[in-house]
Amino acid sequence: MSRESILNQLRENSPLIAPSMLKCDFGNLQREVAMLESAGAKVLHLDVMDGHFVPNLSYGAMVIDRLRRMTNLVFDAHLMISNPDQYLDDFLSAGCQAVTFHVEAVANPADLLQRIRKADAIAGLAVNPGTPIDTIQDLVPECDLILIMSVEPGFGGQQFIASSLDKLREVKQVAGGESLLSIDGGIGPSTISEASKAGADIFVVGSAVFEANDYGDAIAELTQLAAAA
Ligand code: DX5
Ligand code: ZN
Repeated sequence: MSRESILNQLRENSPLIAPSMLKCDFGNLQREVAMLESAGAKVLHLDVMDGHFVPNLSYGAMVIDRLRRMTNLVFDAHLMISNPDQYLDDFLSAGCQAVTFHVEAVANPADLLQRIRKADAIAGLAVNPGTPIDTIQDLVPECDLILIMSVEPGFGGQQFIASSLDKLREVKQVAGGESLLSIDGGIGPSTISEASKAGADIFVVGSAVFEANDYGDAIAELTQLAAAA
Protein backbone atom coordinates (compact mmCIF):
# COMPACT_ATOMS: atom_id res chain seq x y z
CA MET A 1 0.00 0.00 0.00
CA SER A 2 1.17 3.49 -0.81
CA ARG A 3 2.09 6.14 1.74
CA GLU A 4 -0.97 8.13 0.73
CA SER A 5 -3.41 5.26 1.27
CA ILE A 6 -1.93 4.34 4.64
CA LEU A 7 -2.09 7.97 5.72
CA ASN A 8 -5.76 8.04 4.74
CA GLN A 9 -6.36 4.80 6.60
CA LEU A 10 -4.76 6.24 9.74
CA ARG A 11 -6.73 9.48 9.44
CA GLU A 12 -10.03 7.68 8.93
CA ASN A 13 -9.43 5.47 11.95
CA SER A 14 -8.41 8.20 14.37
CA PRO A 15 -8.49 8.41 17.32
CA LEU A 16 -6.21 5.45 17.06
CA ILE A 17 -4.54 3.45 19.81
CA ALA A 18 -1.09 2.23 18.74
CA PRO A 19 0.13 -0.53 21.09
CA SER A 20 3.80 -0.08 21.84
CA MET A 21 5.83 -3.25 21.40
CA LEU A 22 7.98 -2.76 24.47
CA LYS A 23 5.96 -4.13 27.34
CA CYS A 24 4.77 -7.15 25.37
CA ASP A 25 5.77 -10.77 25.94
CA PHE A 26 8.89 -11.04 23.77
CA GLY A 27 8.91 -14.79 24.37
CA ASN A 28 5.70 -15.14 22.43
CA LEU A 29 5.50 -12.43 19.82
CA GLN A 30 3.27 -14.42 17.50
CA ARG A 31 0.65 -14.78 20.22
CA GLU A 32 0.92 -11.11 21.17
CA VAL A 33 0.42 -9.98 17.57
CA ALA A 34 -2.58 -12.29 17.16
CA MET A 35 -4.10 -10.97 20.41
CA LEU A 36 -3.58 -7.35 19.35
CA GLU A 37 -5.16 -8.06 15.96
CA SER A 38 -8.25 -9.56 17.54
CA ALA A 39 -8.29 -6.69 20.06
CA GLY A 40 -8.85 -4.32 17.13
CA ALA A 41 -5.39 -2.73 16.86
CA LYS A 42 -4.72 -1.21 13.44
CA VAL A 43 -1.12 -0.16 13.92
CA LEU A 44 1.86 -1.47 15.86
CA HIS A 45 4.30 1.03 17.35
CA LEU A 46 7.73 -0.60 17.29
CA ASP A 47 10.10 0.85 19.89
CA VAL A 48 13.67 0.54 18.64
CA MET A 49 16.39 1.52 21.15
CA ASP A 50 20.15 1.49 20.73
CA GLY A 51 21.49 1.95 24.27
CA HIS A 52 23.09 5.19 23.08
CA PHE A 53 20.42 7.69 22.14
CA VAL A 54 18.47 6.25 25.07
CA PRO A 55 19.81 4.27 28.05
CA ASN A 56 18.09 1.04 27.05
CA LEU A 57 18.27 -1.60 24.32
CA SER A 58 15.33 -3.25 22.63
CA TYR A 59 15.34 -4.77 19.14
CA GLY A 60 16.01 -3.84 15.55
CA ALA A 61 15.06 -4.47 11.94
CA MET A 62 15.74 -8.23 12.09
CA VAL A 63 13.01 -8.77 14.67
CA ILE A 64 10.63 -6.46 12.80
CA ASP A 65 11.25 -8.44 9.62
CA ARG A 66 10.04 -11.60 11.40
CA LEU A 67 7.04 -9.79 12.85
CA ARG A 68 6.16 -8.60 9.35
CA ARG A 69 5.50 -12.20 8.31
CA MET A 70 2.89 -12.58 11.06
CA THR A 71 0.54 -9.70 10.32
CA ASN A 72 -0.72 -7.05 7.94
CA LEU A 73 -1.05 -4.39 10.66
CA VAL A 74 0.58 -1.05 9.86
CA PHE A 75 4.09 -0.88 11.32
CA ASP A 76 5.41 2.42 12.69
CA ALA A 77 9.03 2.11 13.79
CA HIS A 78 9.90 4.61 16.54
CA LEU A 79 13.66 4.87 16.18
CA MET A 80 15.23 5.95 19.45
CA ILE A 81 18.68 5.58 17.94
CA SER A 82 21.61 7.86 17.26
CA ASN A 83 22.07 7.05 13.56
CA PRO A 84 18.63 6.66 12.02
CA ASP A 85 20.01 7.65 8.58
CA GLN A 86 22.41 4.72 8.68
CA TYR A 87 19.68 2.16 9.41
CA LEU A 88 16.71 3.61 7.53
CA ASP A 89 16.93 1.18 4.60
CA ASP A 90 16.91 -1.81 6.98
CA PHE A 91 13.65 -0.67 8.55
CA LEU A 92 12.09 0.02 5.17
CA SER A 93 13.12 -3.41 3.87
CA ALA A 94 11.74 -4.99 7.04
CA GLY A 95 8.32 -3.66 6.02
CA CYS A 96 7.84 -0.57 8.17
CA GLN A 97 5.27 1.65 6.45
CA ALA A 98 6.05 4.53 8.81
CA VAL A 99 9.44 5.49 10.18
CA THR A 100 9.67 7.98 13.03
CA PHE A 101 13.08 9.25 14.12
CA HIS A 102 14.14 11.83 16.70
CA VAL A 103 14.91 15.40 15.68
CA GLU A 104 17.61 15.41 18.40
CA ALA A 105 19.43 12.51 16.76
CA VAL A 106 20.35 13.92 13.35
CA ALA A 107 22.12 16.94 11.91
CA ASN A 108 19.80 17.32 8.93
CA PRO A 109 16.29 16.05 9.72
CA ALA A 110 14.80 17.48 6.49
CA ASP A 111 17.01 15.20 4.35
CA LEU A 112 15.96 12.12 6.26
CA LEU A 113 12.26 13.03 6.19
CA GLN A 114 12.55 13.44 2.42
CA ARG A 115 14.31 10.08 2.06
CA ILE A 116 11.48 8.38 3.95
CA ARG A 117 8.83 9.99 1.75
CA LYS A 118 10.77 9.13 -1.39
CA ALA A 119 10.58 5.49 -0.30
CA ASP A 120 6.78 5.92 -0.21
CA ALA A 121 6.71 5.54 3.57
CA ILE A 122 5.21 7.82 6.20
CA ALA A 123 7.79 10.30 7.48
CA GLY A 124 7.57 10.75 11.24
CA LEU A 125 9.50 13.12 13.50
CA ALA A 126 9.70 12.57 17.26
CA VAL A 127 10.34 15.33 19.79
CA ASN A 128 11.72 14.79 23.29
CA PRO A 129 10.09 16.46 26.31
CA GLY A 130 12.95 18.98 26.58
CA THR A 131 12.95 19.98 22.91
CA PRO A 132 10.87 23.06 22.09
CA ILE A 133 8.47 23.07 19.14
CA ASP A 134 10.42 26.00 17.62
CA THR A 135 13.12 23.46 16.77
CA ILE A 136 10.81 21.62 14.36
CA GLN A 137 8.70 24.49 13.09
CA ASP A 138 10.43 24.68 9.69
CA LEU A 139 10.33 20.89 9.32
CA VAL A 140 6.57 20.54 9.70
CA PRO A 141 5.82 20.59 5.93
CA GLU A 142 8.15 17.57 5.54
CA CYS A 143 6.40 15.58 8.29
CA ASP A 144 3.49 13.20 7.79
CA LEU A 145 3.49 12.46 11.49
CA ILE A 146 4.79 14.30 14.53
CA LEU A 147 5.34 12.31 17.71
CA ILE A 148 5.36 14.25 20.96
CA MET A 149 7.13 12.36 23.72
CA SER A 150 5.26 12.70 27.00
CA VAL A 151 7.99 10.83 28.93
CA GLU A 152 11.76 10.72 28.52
CA PRO A 153 12.25 8.03 25.88
CA GLY A 154 13.81 4.73 26.94
CA PHE A 155 11.35 2.97 29.20
CA GLY A 156 7.69 2.09 29.42
CA GLY A 157 5.64 2.61 32.55
CA GLN A 158 6.69 6.18 33.32
CA GLN A 159 4.49 9.01 34.49
CA PHE A 160 2.91 11.31 31.90
CA ILE A 161 4.59 14.75 31.73
CA ALA A 162 1.69 17.22 31.81
CA SER A 163 3.53 20.02 29.98
CA SER A 164 3.41 17.86 26.83
CA LEU A 165 -0.23 18.92 26.50
CA ASP A 166 0.92 22.50 25.84
CA LYS A 167 3.34 21.16 23.26
CA LEU A 168 0.56 19.24 21.55
CA ARG A 169 -1.58 22.36 21.37
CA GLU A 170 1.37 24.33 20.03
CA VAL A 171 2.27 21.78 17.38
CA LYS A 172 -1.39 21.45 16.38
CA GLN A 173 -1.43 25.15 15.67
CA VAL A 174 1.77 25.02 13.67
CA ALA A 175 0.83 21.89 11.72
CA GLY A 176 -2.76 23.03 11.17
CA GLY A 177 -4.11 19.53 10.65
CA GLU A 178 -1.59 18.71 7.88
CA SER A 179 0.44 16.18 9.88
CA LEU A 180 -0.89 13.41 12.08
CA LEU A 181 -0.15 14.10 15.74
CA SER A 182 0.89 11.33 18.04
CA ILE A 183 1.64 11.23 21.75
CA ASP A 184 3.84 8.63 23.41
CA GLY A 185 4.38 7.87 27.09
CA GLY A 186 2.17 7.52 30.14
CA ILE A 187 -1.05 7.34 28.13
CA GLY A 188 -3.87 5.53 29.90
CA PRO A 189 -7.46 6.05 31.06
CA SER A 190 -6.51 9.02 33.26
CA THR A 191 -4.47 10.93 30.65
CA ILE A 192 -5.93 10.09 27.23
CA SER A 193 -8.88 12.51 27.32
CA GLU A 194 -6.65 15.53 27.93
CA ALA A 195 -4.24 14.40 25.22
CA SER A 196 -7.13 14.02 22.82
CA LYS A 197 -8.50 17.46 23.64
CA ALA A 198 -5.02 18.90 23.07
CA GLY A 199 -5.08 17.55 19.51
CA ALA A 200 -3.52 14.07 19.34
CA ASP A 201 -4.78 11.66 16.66
CA ILE A 202 -2.66 8.63 17.54
CA PHE A 203 -2.06 7.47 21.11
CA VAL A 204 0.89 5.20 21.72
CA VAL A 205 0.11 2.92 24.64
CA GLY A 206 2.35 0.41 26.38
CA SER A 207 1.45 -0.40 29.98
CA ALA A 208 -2.25 0.47 29.76
CA VAL A 209 -2.71 -2.22 27.09
CA PHE A 210 -0.18 -4.88 28.06
CA GLU A 211 -0.96 -4.79 31.77
CA ALA A 212 -4.71 -5.05 31.14
CA ASN A 213 -6.47 -8.39 31.53
CA ASP A 214 -8.07 -8.00 28.13
CA TYR A 215 -6.32 -6.08 25.34
CA GLY A 216 -9.61 -5.64 23.47
CA ASP A 217 -11.37 -4.06 26.45
CA ALA A 218 -8.40 -1.76 27.09
CA ILE A 219 -8.20 -0.59 23.47
CA ALA A 220 -11.97 -0.10 23.27
CA GLU A 221 -12.09 1.90 26.51
CA LEU A 222 -9.16 4.13 25.50
CA THR A 223 -10.58 4.70 22.01
CA GLN A 224 -13.92 5.66 23.49
CA LEU A 225 -12.34 8.09 25.97
CA ALA A 226 -10.30 9.73 23.20
CA ALA A 227 -13.29 9.98 20.88
CA ALA A 228 -15.54 11.46 23.59
CA ALA A 229 -13.02 14.14 24.63
C1 DX5 B 1 9.18 5.01 25.60
C2 DX5 B 1 8.51 4.44 24.38
C3 DX5 B 1 7.04 4.27 24.54
C4 DX5 B 1 6.65 3.38 25.70
C5 DX5 B 1 5.27 3.75 26.14
O1 DX5 B 1 10.49 5.31 25.31
O2 DX5 B 1 8.73 5.25 23.27
O3 DX5 B 1 6.46 3.85 23.33
O4 DX5 B 1 6.69 2.04 25.41
O5 DX5 B 1 4.97 2.96 27.27
P1 DX5 B 1 3.92 3.45 28.37
O6 DX5 B 1 2.58 3.55 27.67
O7 DX5 B 1 3.98 2.37 29.38
O8 DX5 B 1 4.40 4.78 28.86
ZN1 ZN C 1 7.58 4.80 21.40
